[in-house]
Amino acid sequence: MGVVEELHELRERALTDISSAQDTSALSDVRVAYLGKKGSLTGVLRGLGSLSAQERPTVGKTSNEVRRALEAALDSRKSELEATELQERMDAGALDVTLPGRRRAQGHQHLIQRITREIVEVFVGLGYTVAEGPEVEMEYYNFTALNHTPHHPARSASDTFYVRDRSEGAVVSATGQSDVLLRTHTSPVQIRTMEENDPPIYIIAPGRVYRRDIADPSHLPMFTQVEGIVVDENITFGDLKGTLDHVVQAIFGEGRRTRFRPHFFPFTEPSAEVDVSCGICDGAGCRFCQGTGWLEILGCGMVDPNVFGHAGVDTDRFNGFAFGMGVERIAALKYGIPDLRMLVEGDMRFLRQF
Ligand code: DAH
Repeated sequence: MGVVEELHELRERALTDISSAQDTSALSDVRVAYLGKKGSLTGVLRGLGSLSAQERPTVGKTSNEVRRALEAALDSRKSELEATELQERMDAGALDVTLPGRRRAQGHQHLIQRITREIVEVFVGLGYTVAEGPEVEMEYYNFTALNHTPHHPARSASDTFYVRDRSEGAVVSATGQSDVLLRTHTSPVQIRTMEENDPPIYIIAPGRVYRRDIADPSHLPMFTQVEGIVVDENITFGDLKGTLDHVVQAIFGEGRRTRFRPHFFPFTEPSAEVDVSCGICDGAGCRFCQGTGWLEILGCGMVDPNVFGHAGVDTDRFNGFAFGMGVERIAALKYGIPDLRMLVEGDMRFLRQF
């Protein structure tokens, strides 16, 4: 058989192999077998040198034709196989790009959490830092160091949740109560902070507090407070007033006014309760503010020297102010929520509004 015939036969064999290759990797083997360095066609071309001058041009031309024919067949089979393989991959993935996405239910902060953070942010903007204390607290920090008299009514077991009793090794106080309780306010964080830090102190302490109250529209046995204390040189009641004015406007909106009413707290002297002007009637008096034009929102005062004494602060050099507010009450006043229990019942129809 002449070389030209051999080439024709090689082409036929190659074309059959190409069309019967079942995937791109088999096809690539076929390419190597014919056109690779040691491939059949390459072998024929290598033998060109030993041919007669007469045969060489025809054989050369034919082998070029064969090579081009094989390359064309390989390319077209390759596209075919690639398309099939892509289709197979898509079928296997079964990805329906027209299917609408699954919507995940998006949560959001509870109103109390949000307002607590808003209040904290206002103080952080004034340069305060956040402090925390335990919810299970020592009677000393909750009452004694805060200048409550030994028989102060708030200490009674009908007002305060006590945690340990005598049988559990509690040290029983003068009032017959145990020494461990659920804190009734965030004020004990004042003492803990002063024990551990030297003035100047500018802190804000958000957290949960507990009282033995039956839940009703204006009481919850567990609620949230934000406490603050400042200890520095030459602090005045004017500083306290200016600070709280700013904070009240930041929370309730500009244009709301404050009013400081004399009050009593064991841990401050003088003490005051602060009212914000009613947002409904702007002070004229309406049902929301029970005709007074004002809504009570927090307690405050100048820190009592007895408290500084317990906390080891030098009262010749330092003084300060403190304040505490109830977040649920602020939320209720801001949004006109008629019953604090709605804040803890977890009814999504209510909570979603905020
Ligand atoms: N601890 C008080 C309460 O729970 C709130 C309070 C009033 C905190 C006056 C203070 C303050 O720091 O100075 O009712």
